[in-house]
Amino acid sequence: MARLTAGLTTSHIPAVGAAMDLGKTGEDYWQPVFAGYDWTRQWETAQKPDVVVLVYNDHASAFDMKVIPTFAIGCADSFPIADEGWGPRPVPVVEGHADLAWHIAQSCILDEFDMTIINEMAVDHGLTVPLSLIFGQVAKWPVKVIPVAVNVVTYPPPTGNRCWLLGEAIARAVASYEEDLNVQIWGTGGMSHQLQGPRAGLINREWDTAFLDRLTADPEALRRMPHIEYLREAGSEGIELVMWLIMRGALGPKVRELHRHYHVPASNTAVGHIVLEPAP
Ligand SMILES: [Fe+2]
Repeated sequence: MARLTAGLTTSHIPAVGAAMDLGKTGEDYWQPVFAGYDWTRQWETAQKPDVVVLVYNDHASAFDMKVIPTFAIGCADSFPIADEGWGPRPVPVVEGHADLAWHIAQSCILDEFDMTIINEMAVDHGLTVPLSLIFGQVAKWPVKVIPVAVNVVTYPPPTGNRCWLLGEAIARAVASYEEDLNVQIWGTGGMSHQLQGPRAGLINREWDTAFLDRLTADPEALRRMPHIEYLREAGSEGIELVMWLIMRGALGPKVRELHRHYHVPASNTAVGHIVLEPAP
């Protein structure tokens, strides 16, 4: 059977992708951002996942005001790289796992999570930057990817608790898939950042650190955290952090923290990264 073996979270800052694409990772400004991923790259080489369920949000690349799915799952065999205004990032096409994706879609919908099924979708920095951070600059991604796109751009995004419950439903779906696959789930976005208005540039290290602590120590509190707290404490784009709760819900009640990285700033955003595995 398929096994959900680990989860990780990471920011998906577009400038981080650009730094990699433009060969700037060794510069003084960027070096500490990327150094925090060295441990994970080594760990991931040993883990060798077959599939990553990658939770992210689209930034008006595949969806716009015409269509706003709260939860969408990519069921295609492959996903082209979106052109976000500077041409597509020079990274490999993302290969899907259509059979497992359809299985998850079916399992979640029959489990009363009405996912939007997407068969054609370009993927933007929200999905490709995490892949670059964990796998580096490669000719071909070493995993299949099942994109799970969450609306956190247009109000209302889903609640943290709803995200958690979706994570649990995804875990049940993976556990009922017959092929022996090593599956990971990643939650992306965050941490504190605000891109517009008088508070543009907001970073809240203390609150971010507490959020990272609570992923392991007190996830029940995170499930109940209202949107207004994300907005007030982590800025208008900090709401992306609800997506981390899909990853966290999927790993079950207890987890072990394997690695953590927090760095300020990258672009105008706090970088947060954590690696977790289910604990008995
Ligand atoms: Fe984002």
